[in-house]
Amino acid sequence: MSAQVILKMGNPRLAKPSSPLVNFEQQGLDYPNLANLLKDMEDSMHEHCGVGIAAPQIGCNMRVIMYGFETNPRYPNEGPVPFTILINPVIEACSKETDDAWEGCLSVPGLRGLVPRPNWIKYKAFDPYGNSIEGMAQGFHARIIQHECDHLDGVLFPQRIKNL
Ligand code: NI
Repeated sequence: MSAQVILKMGNPRLAKPSSPLVNFEQQGLDYPNLANLLKDMEDSMHEHCGVGIAAPQIGCNMRVIMYGFETNPRYPNEGPVPFTILINPVIEACSKETDDAWEGCLSVPGLRGLVPRPNWIKYKAFDPYGNSIEGMAQGFHARIIQHECDHLDGVLFPQRIKNL
């Protein structure tokens, strides 16, 4: 397994909602093809210097995201975010107000956009072993989770830009 080609905006797989992993808590890492998918996602994210990646970006329409970095050349001013894998994530905004910040995406090369997003979110998901997890995230961390979850619904950040 290895780094995969990242699908680019315009590819129909990126616009299609992804499917949840059914009965995931019983199967965990034994879920068909999951271990390979996670390895490919991690290799692809690192190869392309992403701060996060969603399964549909490498052509797999399953509800799996991962993110995290110590330092990242694409976002040199952002502090570290712990490496995390979320399966079947569900997010909820904790603040009505949104912040604007510049976003990019491995699937939208060469473009950055000012994207409004809630600053605080709550999330619920499964870890790769089938344990349910939940947490809160703020700032850039919350932004990454929202950006990656958008991929699972077939949404790319340019669709979120208020002022094109
Ligand atoms: Ni993206």
